[in-house]
Amino acid sequence: MKNIAVIGSGTMGNGIAHVFAQYGYKVSLIDVSEDALKKAVATIDKNLSRQVEKGTLTAENKQQALSLITTFTDLKAGIAQAELVVEAATENVDLKLNIFRELDAHAAPDAILASNTSSISITKIASVTKRPGKVIGMHFMNPVPVMKLVEVIRGYTTTDVVTQTVMELSRALGKVPVEVNDYPGFVANRILMPMINEAICTLHEGVAGVEEIDTVMKLGMAHPMGPLQLADFIGLDVCLAILQVLFQGFGNPKYAPCPLLVNMVQAGHRGVKSGAGFYAYA
Ligand code: CAA
Repeated sequence: MKNIAVIGSGTMGNGIAHVFAQYGYKVSLIDVSEDALKKAVATIDKNLSRQVEKGTLTAENKQQALSLITTFTDLKAGIAQAELVVEAATENVDLKLNIFRELDAHAAPDAILASNTSSISITKIASVTKRPGKVIGMHFMNPVPVMKLVEVIRGYTTTDVVTQTVMELSRALGKVPVEVNDYPGFVANRILMPMINEAICTLHEGVAGVEEIDTVMKLGMAHPMGPLQLADFIGLDVCLAILQVLFQGFGNPKYAPCPLLVNMVQAGHRGVKSGAGFYAYA
């Protein structure tokens, strides 16, 4: 496999494009916005430069990686050569279903269609295509160039061959893939989001302040970021959306989003990207 298409050039999409290009794959990066594509390429350039400064990549490797990325605003043209498409668009069910209908109509018949969704059912996404066996979850973690995990999610109908291909491909990117089945939140967010929600409830109930909660988890549990800082980093709207998927999917009140989280998202405090969350960002 040599030709990859990535749909969506936001934080996850540009990170995924970065990693594929760094490991020698030809990448078509696709977004509806020309401006977003320009920003994405600038971000990839900056993040590759960090690696050059750290000595983990040569300047020549960086230029080679950049030369492997082509941007497109036209989805059909962008996926024409793709053997694998990785969708990393906004976390919205209807949007993703529409994208997969289009991918199915225009991608090569043998192409594997992967989604980087953090919680939407892969089985549901697969069901709108005529190739449900070739639809799979490829859930990268943020920041993609740094985090080793790829959560590989098998939909109800995903074939063994497609799963093995995506597992091997993830290893070829220097990642460690873990195969999981398609149930709400998969594994990563089924465990991470209740912890974040509990941290927010702990704050909401006045047990301790933001910095105190984060310090307990950073220094006491050796987490690189405290749960409130991590929630800001992921996006409070994304955390809320994932908790709602867990709550609806399992029908269990233990996943009910904390009212403080709901209020913050309604107020537009979505974390780092909005300038305000549990912390303030310049
Ligand atoms: N591209 C390339 N390199 C990057 C980078 C990027 N975007 N961001 C950071 N780095 C590199 C830095 O250059 C640095 O490299 P060295 O170790 O070689 O020096 C290294 O990563 C660490 O970065 P910093 O020194 O700037 O900062 P840090 O030590 O505070 O680490 C962090 C930053 C890696 C983000 C760390 O805080 C961390 O691991 N945080 C937790 C991240 C996490 O939990 N991610 C998962 C979120 S959940 C998710 O993504 C899925 C979901 O569905 C919600």
